[in-house]
Amino acid sequence: MAVNTLIIREANESDLHDVIQVEKEAFGYEKEAILVSQLLEDESAEPTISLLAFKEDEAVGHILFTKAAIDGKDPSPLIYLLAPLAIKPEHQKQGIGGMLINEGLKKLKDMGVEMVFVLGHENYYPKYGFINDAGNMGFAAPYPIPEEQAGAWMVQFLGSKDVEGITGRVVCADALNKPEHWRE
Ligand SMILES: CC(C)(COP(=O)(O)OP(=O)(O)OC[C@H]1O[C@@H](n2cnc3c(N)ncnc32)[C@H](O)[C@@H]1OP(=O)(O)O)[C@@H](O)C(=O)NCCC(=O)NCCS
Repeated sequence: MAVNTLIIREANESDLHDVIQVEKEAFGYEKEAILVSQLLEDESAEPTISLLAFKEDEAVGHILFTKAAIDGKDPSPLIYLLAPLAIKPEHQKQGIGGMLINEGLKKLKDMGVEMVFVLGHENYYPKYGFINDAGNMGFAAPYPIPEEQAGAWMVQFLGSKDVEGITGRVVCADALNKPEHWRE
């Protein structure tokens, strides 16, 4: 996808350096960069959707979606987790995050994904269709979310299939399945 000079494309193995650099600069520390490199090697997260946004030749944004499931549902509806989303500081507030989210959601929809979850800024993701407080809708997060942050655990329904009545705890990929990734 190209918007003016912005190009969004799937990241491949040779892009790992760019992906890590974007994550480090966006967050200002290494935790997310390490998580992303672990998730990209985590079979339980596959198939992942890993997208990079480029301005000219510079990677300025990255988004990762990894596979998840609803606990105890066999088969589980096809569900994904968005984590993390990262835009380099000097390229923030230009709509790049939104474009990466929308491009990712389009790909997930084409794959037949029914629900996408995210733990993040509670005023940001609703701009792109996410609904605050997925816990209140019956979807517990992999680790308990403190009551005062309940709004930050969000869901978006993508599917045409009726998923009504399917609720439960979200089970995430192994690399994400650690309590430190579930605190805001
Ligand atoms: C949060 C982040 C991904 C947003 O990306 P971005 O490209 O700057 O966002 P966009 O330009 O698409 O923002 C669109 C809108 O959301 C708003 N917005 C941006 N960050 C926001 C935040 N943290 N909370 C609420 N609103 C936010 C923008 O002001 C803008 O509002 P407008 O449409 O009314 O002008 C980016 O700031 C970032 O990488 N931050 C550091 C890492 C991080 O926190 N990642 C998210 C983890 S959940």
